[in-house]
Amino acid sequence: MPIRKIIKFGNPILSWRAKEIDDVNTAEIASLVEDMIDTMQHHDGAGIAAPQIGISKRLVIFGFDKNPRYPEALPVPYTILANPEYEAVDDETDYKMEGCLSIPGIRGKVLRFKKIKYSGFDMEKKCKIDRVAEGFHARVVQHEIDHLNGILFLQRVLPEDFHLSGFEDELSEL
Ligand code: NI
Repeated sequence: MPIRKIIKFGNPILSWRAKEIDDVNTAEIASLVEDMIDTMQHHDGAGIAAPQIGISKRLVIFGFDKNPRYPEALPVPYTILANPEYEAVDDETDYKMEGCLSIPGIRGKVLRFKKIKYSGFDMEKKCKIDRVAEGFHARVVQHEIDHLNGILFLQRVLPEDFHLSGFEDELSEL
């Protein structure tokens, strides 16, 4: 299966609301999943959303045991989810640096809910799942679902802390 080109910040597809997947059991969706897996692995991504390979559909993949892009992060269960949704469990937030394969080389400090409940159709288990997640796991899920709603992490950087964002090789905090 081919590694697909990752579209970057500036491509209009990244700002669209991606479409629901009505039928998860098609050859088209199966091949999209394969391509996303290969592309995410190739780039050492913690996660990837279908719009990042130019396909405006509500499908995300995330998870790793260890990730070189986020060496401090705890493992996140490897998950392939169609039509995912999340909600915050409470008001508690986490304020941490994150990056995105569509904004290569750049990191920014982003406020996210610390603990969330999320759900979606698990493409491996072939059923709907509900999970509670916190910390980096919750951050990745929020970041990927943002992609499905046309939102990039840079849009969530607080204006007063914009100076804390930038190219990885220029930042002291990652
Ligand atoms: Ni991203």
